[in-house]
Amino acid sequence: MSMAMARLFLLSALCVLLPALVLGQFQIQGRIYCDNCRFGFETEITTYIQGATVRLECVNRTNLQVMYSAETQTDSTGTYNFDVKEDHQDQMCNCLLGKSPVANCNKADRGRKIASAVLTAYNGVVNRFHKVNSMGFLINEALPHCKQLHNKYFASE
Ligand SMILES: *[C@@H]1O[C@H](CO)[C@@H](O)[C@H](O)[C@H]1NC(C)=O
Repeated sequence: MSMAMARLFLLSALCVLLPALVLGQFQIQGRIYCDNCRFGFETEITTYIQGATVRLECVNRTNLQVMYSAETQTDSTGTYNFDVKEDHQDQMCNCLLGKSPVANCNKADRGRKIASAVLTAYNGVVNRFHKVNSMGFLINEALPHCKQLHNKYFASE
C-alpha cells in the first residue's frame, strides 16, 4: 500500500469511527405492537400501533436518579427511534411503554412494557445503532383466529 493510500485509508476509518466514539451519538429503534391473541409475544397476525408513546430514560444505577429522559411516538409501522447525542456510560437506560391510541388495545402487557437500551461505547461496542425488544399492549379480547394459532406457538402437552 502506498503512503498516500495508507493515509486515505486511515482518514476514512477515522471518519467512520470518530463520530461514534467522540460525539457518542446513538440511535435506538424499537416497535410497539398490539398483542391481539393475548399470547404475551408477537405472532404472525400481530399488528403494530401507530401513535403509541414511548419514553427513553437513563438512571444512575446507584441511586436511580433520572439522568436523561426523552419521549417520542411510533410511526405508521409501529416503529420509533431515539437519537441520543451523548454517551450514557454506566447509567441504566430503558425504553418504557407509554400510551396506546387504540381503544381496545391500550393495556400494557406487564411482561412487555420495558426494553433495555445500550447507550454507551465505553464497553467496546462501536455500533451506534441498537434495536431493542418490541413492547406491547394486550387486546381486550383475543381474535377468533388465535385459537388456530395456539398449537403453533405453544408446545402441545
Ligand atoms: C450516582 O449516584 C451516586 C450516589 O449518589 C453518586 O456518587 C454518583 O456520582 C452518581 N453518578 C453519576 C454519574 O451521576
